[in-house]
Amino acid sequence: MSIITVNNLTKTFKTLTAVDDISFSVNEGEVFGFLGPNGAGKTTTINILCTLLSSTAGAASIAGNDCAQNPDEVRTAIGIIFQDTTLDTGLTAYENLKFHAYLYNLDRALTERRIDEMLNVVELQSRKHDLIKNFSGGMKRRLEIARGLLHYPRVLFLDEPTIGLDPQTRNTIWDFINTLRKKEKITVFMTTHYMEEAENCDRIAIMDHGRIIAMDTPGRLKEMVHGDVITLVTSDNELARMELQKTFGVEARVENGALSLEAEKGDELIPRLIHGLSVTTLSVGLKKPTLNDVFLRLTGRTIRDEGPRDNKEVTREFVRSHRRAQR
Ligand SMILES: Nc1ncnc2c1ncn2[C@@H]1O[C@H](COP(=O)(O)OP(=O)(O)OP(=O)(O)O)[C@@H](O)[C@H]1O
Ligand SMILES: [Mg+2]
Repeated sequence: MSIITVNNLTKTFKTLTAVDDISFSVNEGEVFGFLGPNGAGKTTTINILCTLLSSTAGAASIAGNDCAQNPDEVRTAIGIIFQDTTLDTGLTAYENLKFHAYLYNLDRALTERRIDEMLNVVELQSRKHDLIKNFSGGMKRRLEIARGLLHYPRVLFLDEPTIGLDPQTRNTIWDFINTLRKKEKITVFMTTHYMEEAENCDRIAIMDHGRIIAMDTPGRLKEMVHGDVITLVTSDNELARMELQKTFGVEARVENGALSLEAEKGDELIPRLIHGLSVTTLSVGLKKPTLNDVFLRLTGRTIRDEGPRDNKEVTREFVRSHRRAQR
């Protein structure tokens, strides 16, 4: 059952086509990710889905509600964690959550209950009355996730959920999202340009210049890149190259003092190579294809791990439009 449906969605800004005729659907309970370099159109797509931006052409719907025709219903169904932090650092965790509950019209008793519930979920109950300016980056992100979940959305949008965080905090946040997802049966739509992060998704759409250039499970996407890359350094690389060809039927290249060859199942081939060669093996390397290799194969370029675009203006617009919707 699909909970997000996007058909031929296009967004142009003057002469720039930021989102170019994309179509996809996301199943209920799925973790779906957009992976792509800076400016690929990931945030623009999220902003259309979250009713913050109108599309130029095409349609999108969430939980059966058209994003352009029924924005209020869509907003009730979603939670969003923006690319840049949008917490008020001069307020406490509790006050930030309370403000959000107010935007969503939760009554007073329910607000108090949900705040405690969500602070427990993100393990910040003990910091309830602490000012945000004293929180670490990871704690801020967890609080934003709690805030995004406060009104029990069916779909949680995470735009670069762990941007700027260290790898350890990134892993903690992902453990947490995965646990949450099992408990709450929530659908997660996320964007990232971190390869390892994209590995957490059930399916990934690879985006480039506003277009979806591939969409599948991380495993199947990586199968597009043929095999693993094995590097060998031996006591006689040229002799080893000839033996590899004769005995194993594999073509190896000698580059920078090492042999390099591609194989379907590198981990199984390596022991056989070492035993089969008459020369001594001095070192062995095995590189499994990454999503970056997939992107490279598709575009001839790599996804650079750069900082994101400023999103504060979009956030302000979200708050403004919420207020308008509440009136
Ligand atoms: N309000 C706007 N006006 C004009 N151009 C815009 C606007 N918003 C986005 N763009 C442009 O649209 C393109 C896509 O931007 P978008 O923010 O969607 O990319 P992104 O994939 O989220 O990138 P990043 O990884 O840097 O966050 C970019 O070229 C950007 O400059
Ligand atoms: Mg973005």
